[in-house]
Amino acid sequence: MSRRIAVIAGDGVGPEVTAAALPVVEAAVAAGGGEPLAFDALPWGSRYYHEHGRMMPEDALERLAGYEAIFLGAIGSPEVPDHVTVWGVILPIRQSFGQYVNLRPARLLPGLTSPLRDRGPKDIDLVVVRENSEGEYADVGGRLHRGTLDEVAVQSSVFTRRGIERIVEYAFGLAERRPRRLLASATKSNSWAYAMTLWDEVVADVSVRHPDVAVAKYHVDALATRFVTAPDSLDVVVCSNLFGDILSDLAAGLVGSLGVAGSANLDPTRRHPSMFEPIHGSAPDIAGTGLANPFGAISAGSLMLEHLGLAEEAALLTRALERACERPETRTPDVGGTGTTASVAEALVSFVRAA
Ligand code: IPM
Ligand code: MG
Repeated sequence: MSRRIAVIAGDGVGPEVTAAALPVVEAAVAAGGGEPLAFDALPWGSRYYHEHGRMMPEDALERLAGYEAIFLGAIGSPEVPDHVTVWGVILPIRQSFGQYVNLRPARLLPGLTSPLRDRGPKDIDLVVVRENSEGEYADVGGRLHRGTLDEVAVQSSVFTRRGIERIVEYAFGLAERRPRRLLASATKSNSWAYAMTLWDEVVADVSVRHPDVAVAKYHVDALATRFVTAPDSLDVVVCSNLFGDILSDLAAGLVGSLGVAGSANLDPTRRHPSMFEPIHGSAPDIAGTGLANPFGAISAGSLMLEHLGLAEEAALLTRALERACERPETRTPDVGGTGTTASVAEALVSFVRAA
């Protein structure tokens, strides 16, 4: 039976990078000799919003629940407020499908140049493990006395022991499987003395179960500096939802471009489908120019294959990306290349087939 994947290509460059990435993913599955994946394109996003007044149909979540995985291009357009687009698609999927892990690897691929002087591939190979279901993204708050001088906005964070424990446990488990076995915990318990002291306590509790992992806690501001000054000291980094959002964009910058980074929104219990997406947004400024980098979407595809149990096929994608990095013709301009979204993707298909 073929595996069914829901594809929400979305807005801006989303459809372009999705159209580029899926054939590369298919080529990897074919090379592995496995049953092809079945992709169902779901035309949801900002255009759907213009026609229907909502980003996805009312029964979208029930429909998505039947898939093995969700592949997302990008969501957001200049004509629709961002909080409407993201609360209409990405955040409800992450939260209602229990995708509490947001995995964001950042490895400097050989051939790409980091903006950090004198730093090479051996220096930058880290994974941001972002809490993805609560924290600063809990949809709790409101606005009062709108439009008046007395206007008030309340935006509450929600941190639960259970929510922290499960993400921290996942991060320790991941660190245990990596050669360096280092875990950095992003905190801010000096000033954010309720939520982040709970965070620190849970990290300390969970660490007892993982004696092989060396854990260090850093206030997130100092950790941001460390990303730049000593990225080689970082391996797995566990953070709250908002800290992880910020640090993962920083990490993507360190490895050359926001365009190269992929991410996985995982429900490790596998009760619900997980979702795979590049970490970049819809980039309306370059939509339609053919300049969007497909690497991020392909990395997301690689994470999806790994999640589906196709580790060899996922590795084929990684090797093809590494090969594409070697020459400017097989990279897009954001990483110093001369290729287009489509030409780079074509090259990647041929690299996968030749492997
Ligand atoms: C990301 C994005 C999203 C986030 C937005 C689009 C809601 O920036 O995936 O990092 O903040 O999580
Ligand atoms: Mg982000």
